[in-house]
Amino acid sequence: MGTDKQLTIGLFGFGVVGEGIYKVLEQTPSLRARIKKICIKNPAKRRNAPAALFTTDKNDLLQDNDINVIVEVIDDADAAFEIVTTALQNGKDVVSASKKMLAEHLPALLELQERADRSLLYEAAACASVPVIRNVEEYYDNDLLHSITAIINGSTNYILTKMTEEGLDFKQALTEARQNGFAESNPVLDVEGYDAANKWSILLTHAYGMIAAPGSFLFSGIQHVHSLDTEVAASRKQVIKLVARAQKLTNGKVAALVLPQFVSVDDHLAFVRNEYNGVVIESSFADKQFFYGKGAGSFPTASAILSDLAALRYNYKYEYKKRYHHKPHETDHQIFLRVYLSFQTVADLPREKFEWIEEWHAGQERSYCCGVIVVERLTENDWWKQNGISLILLPDPIVEETLTRKLRQRSLELAGVI
Ligand code: HSE
Repeated sequence: MGTDKQLTIGLFGFGVVGEGIYKVLEQTPSLRARIKKICIKNPAKRRNAPAALFTTDKNDLLQDNDINVIVEVIDDADAAFEIVTTALQNGKDVVSASKKMLAEHLPALLELQERADRSLLYEAAACASVPVIRNVEEYYDNDLLHSITAIINGSTNYILTKMTEEGLDFKQALTEARQNGFAESNPVLDVEGYDAANKWSILLTHAYGMIAAPGSFLFSGIQHVHSLDTEVAASRKQVIKLVARAQKLTNGKVAALVLPQFVSVDDHLAFVRNEYNGVVIESSFADKQFFYGKGAGSFPTASAILSDLAALRYNYKYEYKKRYHHKPHETDHQIFLRVYLSFQTVADLPREKFEWIEEWHAGQERSYCCGVIVVERLTENDWWKQNGISLILLPDPIVEETLTRKLRQRSLELAGVI
């Protein structure tokens, strides 16, 4: 089938995103995509669409042979997985925005897509309106992609921006993010980094062919960032951002992380404010490229879904090229990170966790130090999320060459050569 394919849609969910899709489709008749039924949980709620479209019975959509595409934008990951798998098994293409569901079930979904010979597209699941999944999937050859650094959670970026620029306290800023429809219905997912980790897990599969469930790489949110940390950042002409990072190492493996980081004010990522997302890709020959746009909200998310629907008219499928046609990369857990750690009392500082400490500032209310830590020290337990400790990566946090030089110097010192 070619471009004349008619899309008859069954839509699951009519919240901020679902209603956005409905409105956006009404404004784009050229797509030849029509919503036949919308499945919702609460029939008593007032909806801005004809009542005849709504049902509470999922089978009205999943068992309707006329419906050839299921669009799923609900925030219950378990229910979403059931809907998506049933739809694929029933021969329907699927467009999903459920990051958590996708990140948790990617291996099973890869297999099912293959078996069912149907498409499962999910551009809206990472960075909403910024076309990043299809981009890393299609454009960059495995060997050419050196690193991706990104801001992929709109709510935390909104909170950090409002705190830094307008002096809002954390709670106020979070309330605004919720009122604007950026935050997850359980905002802990945003604030503690789960949402960013889910999105990163999806992107790692398309960028490097890795299946890396969120628990398999280091992540945190902005829950421990202290006002002193933002003052330190300002004094260094830096801002704090929640940065997702994937970086190819000289040993051929990939370092994958989602952590708060100090970012220089003239870095591309510092330019990303409020609910916007930004992705910096470094590749051979092209050097740096920067993608920027709205990463949350009704219409930006609907726009990514619209693009997936348009792609379905051409029977587009993700090929998972980096996984199936290249040697997929592995994650490296031995990497050394340059970190800043702030804490209340010196007793809270576990010096033995550091490879070395480069800088140290004692204050009356709070103190901080900067040094190098091996990732394994951070994954063995959560000491760095306790006792009021705040851990933030320094700019260019991954140490490769410096480490080698330092270790060499140390061994020379031990041997009495210098
Ligand atoms: N809660 C998400 C965010 C919504 O703030 O980025 C978009 O995925």
